[in-house]
Parts: sequence; C-alpha cells; structure tokens
Amino acid sequence: MAQILDGAALAAAIQHDVAEEVKQLAARGIRPGLAAVLVGHVPASQIYVRNKVQACAELGISSDLLTPPDRITTEEMLALVDQLNRRDDIDGILIQLPLPAHIDSKRLLDAIDPAKDVDGFHPVNSGRLLAGRPALAPCTPAGVLEILKRSHLPIAGQHAVVVGRSDIVGKPVAALLLHADATVTICHSKTRDLPSITRQADILVAAIGRPGLITPEMVKPGATLLDVGINRLTTREAFDRFFQGNAQREAAFAKRGSVIVGDIHPKAFEIAGAYTPVPGGVGLLTIAMLMANTVRAAKMRREP
Ligand code: GUN
Repeated sequence: MAQILDGAALAAAIQHDVAEEVKQLAARGIRPGLAAVLVGHVPASQIYVRNKVQACAELGISSDLLTPPDRITTEEMLALVDQLNRRDDIDGILIQLPLPAHIDSKRLLDAIDPAKDVDGFHPVNSGRLLAGRPALAPCTPAGVLEILKRSHLPIAGQHAVVVGRSDIVGKPVAALLLHADATVTICHSKTRDLPSITRQADILVAAIGRPGLITPEMVKPGATLLDVGINRLTTREAFDRFFQGNAQREAAFAKRGSVIVGDIHPKAFEIAGAYTPVPGGVGLLTIAMLMANTVRAAKMRREP
C-alpha cells in the first residue's frame, strides 16, 4: 500500500514549529508582521487571503490586510509597496495574484524589498535560490521539500523529475531538489517522449496544470509522487475519466457539481511508494510555508 503524505498533518507540524519560533521572538520583543494586499474580487483569491490572515492570527503573527479599490493604478500600487517596504512593523509583503489586467504585476513584484518578499517571486530571491545562497524560496516548492524531509524520504542521489517549468513552482522546486543533491530533470510541454523520462523518476513532481496527465504507465512502481496540480472537473465525462466507481468522489460531485483532480491520475497513486493526495496534499502546505517565510524574514532582517 502506498503511503499517503498527509498535507494537513504536515502543515500542522510546520505551523507548530513556526508558533514556537514566534514565541521565542516575542521573548525578544519582536512580533513578525505580514502585509497582504488584495485587489479585485476573484473568489479564490479572497478565500486564500482570508486563510492567510487567519493563519497569522493563530500563530501570533500580526497581519495587515490592504484592499485598495479595483481602479487603483500601477503607480498608486507602487507607492503602496514603497510604504510597506519602509514600515518597520512589516516583515513580509504578499500581493495576491492574479491582479486586475490593468496593473503591471511584474513591475510591482520587482518593487517589493527582496528582504520582505515572502512569496519568493523577486528575481533577487530567484537568483539567490539558484546560486544556493540563503533566500526566501517560493512557498509551494518549499512545501514540497518539507514534505519529503519531514516524511524522511530520501532525496540525495535520487532521480527527481519535475514536470512543469513555471517560475512559481517548476523552476524553484528543481533548484531546491538539486541543492538537496537529487539528480534533477525538468520536463515541459515540448518534452519528447515524456513517459520514458517520468518512468525513471524516484521522485516525481507534477506541476503542469493538466488534469491527470501522469498516468500509471508513466510511473515507476514505488516512486514518490508529489502532485502540485489543482484542476476543477465540472463535466460528467471528465469526472468519469478519473473517478468512475469512487463512491466518495461521486457524492462530492453530486453535491457541488465539481471535483478537484491533480496533474497525476488517481490510478497512478496505487503503484506509488508514497504520494500527496489532491485535495489534501501539497496545497495545504503553502500557507504554512508563507508563515515560515514571514518568521524567517523577520529574523533575517534583524540578523542579516
Ligand atoms: N495566487 C495563487 N497562489 C498564490 C501565491 O502563492 N502567492 C500569491 N501572491 N498569489 C497567489
């Protein structure tokens, strides 16, 4: 039986450790602070930000939620980021994405002080990460590494195959695995004969945003599967392709009219050594790692 890598349990363990660090900082008179900026009314973004602010409250991190009006310009957003960069009570700045189309997201993300860039999206942090220097790493890739480490799964010498080359997940997770001494292959939409490569993976990270792309024939039996994909299925046909005969998922689909599937076909999990389920896997670690990054930023800013 494959081992299920339980995102909720791992996230709770990380948050427990972060809360301890917050207590130690409090003894020195330091309270880490996170600023979250939310523009617009994307429901998923509203939920994410609410959960991030709630996690701060639970761990003793102060948070400041800023919700400028939808019509705010790039220049006004830049002025807001500048203020946050200067505020001594703010250790981390998070601008929830996506931003409305009229705002230049890249310019804004580049304007965040790299020392407060708890999302790890600033090119200075990407560069430091690639160079193997201390950096604030993006939260989801950092979460993937925490899952492996806290589950005592070997990384050094393992062949890690990353499917997906985004700046937010694929590239940074490959860098982190490389620094942990894995042999890393990055695959993407133009890769020839993807199955022949994924079948070599001892550790397979799927982050390409294609529902169930990784099928059982593409997996080496016993491999560790880390599924970063979050894809919503809304049609009966799509549902049946992945979950036909699964009573639990059937009930969820009947209730909500949709279900979530990752980039790995659920059947592939059956031959894995260990795997992260979707939902309930990697996604749950992202907020925990944001909290960890905020505390790390608070410490690094004081002891550079
Ligand atoms: N939107 C979806 N995921 C993320 C994330 O990790 N950080 C930010 N800032 N926005 C997001």
